[in-house]
Amino acid sequence: MRFIRTNDYAAMSRKAANIIASQVILKPDSVLGLATGSTPIGTYDELVRMVNAGDLDLSGVHTANLDEYVGLTHDHDQSYHYFMNEHLFSRVGLDLSRTNVPDGVAADPAAECARYDKLIQDLGGVDLQLLGLGHNGHIGFNEPQDDFPKGTHLVDLTESTINANSRLFEKKEDVPRQALTMGIGTIMAARKILVVVNGAGKAAIVKEAFCGPVTPQVPASILQFHPDVTIVGDAEAFSQLPF
Ligand code: GLP
Repeated sequence: MRFIRTNDYAAMSRKAANIIASQVILKPDSVLGLATGSTPIGTYDELVRMVNAGDLDLSGVHTANLDEYVGLTHDHDQSYHYFMNEHLFSRVGLDLSRTNVPDGVAADPAAECARYDKLIQDLGGVDLQLLGLGHNGHIGFNEPQDDFPKGTHLVDLTESTINANSRLFEKKEDVPRQALTMGIGTIMAARKILVVVNGAGKAAIVKEAFCGPVTPQVPASILQFHPDVTIVGDAEAFSQLPF
């Protein structure tokens, strides 16, 4: 694992965007695995800046997002479809047919999960997967549990995730209880993984996930077994690392 320590959120975002940009410059038809949450917003802002400056062309990429809430329509302002349009796709004029987010309102969630896995496979797999980190160590919406789920699947969100994400909804009762998420197997199959973490609130889980034992109770800990992981964090998020 490669740890890149930056001074603050802005520097973390620039570094992460540079890594994504270098991937796309070297392979313009890359498949980018994308993430939501507040952490990658600055990374997306920076990618938009690079595209507008003429330094980056995203028109040849395909994207596959990690996850989506069950029950939120694509135009719901807390859906991950909406998030991606707002923060990246519409701002860089990405052809939406090249973008993919699991469909949280699919009539048959199991069929949607199978469709999503096949779609990623048909695209040739993910070249670079961007990840945030949940406070309980979740990646995508793979919550702490007894095993590492392989493919895209339906999950019941934990109370801790519902609480953490309730800040974005009017009331806690509005937070969906379920989501569709790429599995740990899907994530681990990406050729490269880029994790972004910032803030003191993530310091303990960064240490636990990346320096502690590999266990499905801390889903991100599996990344220790991936051959090409880069973790870009600010000084606060890295403050408990022993190096
Ligand atoms: C959500 C997302 C995750 C994200 C996590 C952390 O639950 N499903 O993909 O990594 O939150 O979010 P934040 O970056 O806001 O801390």
